[in-house]
Formats: sequence, structure tokens, C-alpha cells
Amino acid sequence: MSNHDKKVNKEHHDEGGNGSKKEGGQGGFHLTRRTLLKAGSATVAVAAVSSSTVLSARELPVTPSPAMSDLTMNVNGEKRQLNVDTRTTLLDALRENLHLTGTKKGCDHGQCGACTVIVDGRRINSCLTLAVMHQDAEITTIEGLGTPEKLHPMQAAFVKHDGYQCGYCTPGQICSSVAVLKEIEMGIPSHVTRDLVSPPPLTADEIRERMSGNICRCGAYSNILAAIEDVAGSKES
Ligand code: FES
Ligand code: FES
Repeated sequence: MSNHDKKVNKEHHDEGGNGSKKEGGQGGFHLTRRTLLKAGSATVAVAAVSSSTVLSARELPVTPSPAMSDLTMNVNGEKRQLNVDTRTTLLDALRENLHLTGTKKGCDHGQCGACTVIVDGRRINSCLTLAVMHQDAEITTIEGLGTPEKLHPMQAAFVKHDGYQCGYCTPGQICSSVAVLKEIEMGIPSHVTRDLVSPPPLTADEIRERMSGNICRCGAYSNILAAIEDVAGSKES
């Protein structure tokens, strides 16, 4: 046997360790039971470490402390100073910070109109705007339109025409109605206005279209329309 053959033979013998413990037959790849068990344990350990690493990585982020901001608004004729989380909606600032709970939270997604308030003369969904965007704004909520002793004409008309049932949508309906009549008075056209040059007419269709963002689950629509028409003077009450 040449020196080279002796070397190859030795290496082959060493890979199998003790020749009497070899498994897997002669030649090629030799896998002992012990090696297999070690490999399996190592795989399980790696998987466990990986999942614990992922878990701890998931747990690591902490919610940052809120960024607070000072804010001044004129609400219902009164100067109000607040210190709010910058993520606070105007609706939550009114309800939670100022405790003006007349403004309702229906959908919180701009779809129902229950949260309608009047900001600088225009109606908006207060759930869709951040409070900090309204520094020094003039805000009117249902509490600022009238009082139980001295109702706003629109509030009185809703009572007179039975324009509500459960009443949940009513503050938003009334704020919206007041702003709608102002919009028509200012000549702002709507989707159904045909003549964009002349002042929009005070028709039922105009009112219905402009009030279409205020949903009433009780279905008091016809009575709400009657109330608005009464205040507008566009129809005999
Ligand atoms: S609560 Fe704002 S639109 Fe519904
Ligand atoms: S009165 Fe009940 S939702 Fe309008």
C-alpha cells in the first residue's frame, strides 16, 4: 500500500470513530444515533432562541408618552384654555375635557354627523379634526345655541315639529340645520343647485341634500325637514 493510500484509509477510519460503532453501512456518509440526537436538539434550541428573540423584540417598543399642547378656544362665547394630547379630536376635547356632552359621538368616523358643531361659522364633523388645529377658533355647540329656558328658534322648531325620537342625532341635526340656512343665505351652492350664478333656492331638495350628512337612525327625516322649513320661512308651519 502506498503512503497516499495509507493516509486515505486512516482518514476514512477516523470519520467513523471506533470502527465497531459505525452505522449506515460501508463507505459514504456515516450518521450515528448520537449525532442525530445532537443535531435535533440544536435545531430545537435555535428555534426557541429565535422565537424568544422575536417575542422580546415585539415587547420592546413602548408607547411614547403623549405630546401635550396648550390650546385656547372660544367655546359658546367663553374663552377656554386646555392642555391636550395633540392626538385629541375636537369632539373628545369638547366632551372629555370641557364636559360639553351635548355633542354626540356616533360613528367617530365622519359618517353620521352626530358630532356636528359650528366652527368659525361653518359646520364640521368634530370627530374628524384635531383640537389643536383650532387655536383661537369660535366654536358653537348645541349648548351654545340656546338654553332650556330660551331655545334657539331651530331647537324650538324641532320640538314643535317632533323632529326627533331618541334624540341622539338631534344636537348634530340642529347645529347642521342652523349652518345650512346660513350657507343658503350666503349663496353657497350644493350638489343639487342647478343655477350656480343665482342664489340657491330654499327648496326641500336643497335642504335634504345639505342635511344628507346627518343620519337619523330613528328616521325622523320628514319632521326634521318640516322644522327647518319652518325656521327658513319657506313653508307654512
Ligand atoms: S361621530 Fe362624527 S360623524 Fe359620526
Ligand atoms: S332621533 Fe334617534 S337617531 Fe335621530
